[in-house]
Amino acid sequence: MSKDLYDEVAELLITKRSAVALTGAGASAESGVPTFRGSGGLWTIFRPEDIATPEAFFRDPENVWRWYKWRLEKLFEAKPNPGHYALAEMERLNILRCVITQNVDELHRVAGSKCLIELHGSIRRMRCVSCGYTERIDDLSRLETLPPKCPRCGSIMRPDVVLFGEPIPMIEWTRALSETYKAKIMLVVGTSGSVYPAALLPHIAKERGSIIIEINPEETELSDIADIIIRAKSGEALPKILERIKKLL
Ligand code: OAD
Ligand code: ZN
Repeated sequence: MSKDLYDEVAELLITKRSAVALTGAGASAESGVPTFRGSGGLWTIFRPEDIATPEAFFRDPENVWRWYKWRLEKLFEAKPNPGHYALAEMERLNILRCVITQNVDELHRVAGSKCLIELHGSIRRMRCVSCGYTERIDDLSRLETLPPKCPRCGSIMRPDVVLFGEPIPMIEWTRALSETYKAKIMLVVGTSGSVYPAALLPHIAKERGSIIIEINPEETELSDIADIIIRAKSGEALPKILERIKKLL
């Protein structure tokens, strides 16, 4: 039987043994978590400047929290999909070093990814705007009265995510850069590549001679720099790659 793209990617991953994945909202689409852009995307229903900027938060924290509460309600029902599990398994097999994600849903963690860099924070945490105290959100009880108050200093809590116009925390960004420098392959999964600085990472990897593999059913702003493109859903493509890897190992 002749080799296909999945065989080619599996062989490359095994030969180089130094891959990193950059994931975006598309990686969680098959878990029922909406993406931001494209049909049905959150930014086609809501305006980011109304709910996803620090200005919007301080203007009307209750409104911003209502939106996050709605997203959390949906997220509590979401489970990782086969794409998340395939990436976690590739890490266990020493094929993948790390997952760098723009997603705030923690589904990679639930699926078992250990080396995980969450560039945009987590929707399952909140943080005090004054003293920095952070707290996990495991159910909606703390979100009955909005905005929630800090148990330590009484100030208001905010979602522990990166809002538009805010920098990525230095620790996450430094780790992401370091993993990007070490990787010989970058899997770019389910991201439109339109939000910076996250979208810089594939460009940096490319510049350093890494092989860029895009997995996305649609063309993106990163397609031009991709060496290999798999036009498929990540929940279908990643398990196929994993299956081929296991056959070859
Ligand atoms: P986008 O919503 O911009 O892009 C989602 C991408 O996923 C698109 O390229 C889709 O074609 C692709 N996609 C859809 N279904 C897929 C599937 N089943 N498998 C694989 N790919 C699929 O999401 P991001 O690129 O993650 O930032 O957006 C980046 C950032 O913009 C987010 O982290 C968020 C947003 O504003 C902040 O909140 C700071
Ligand atoms: Zn506080």
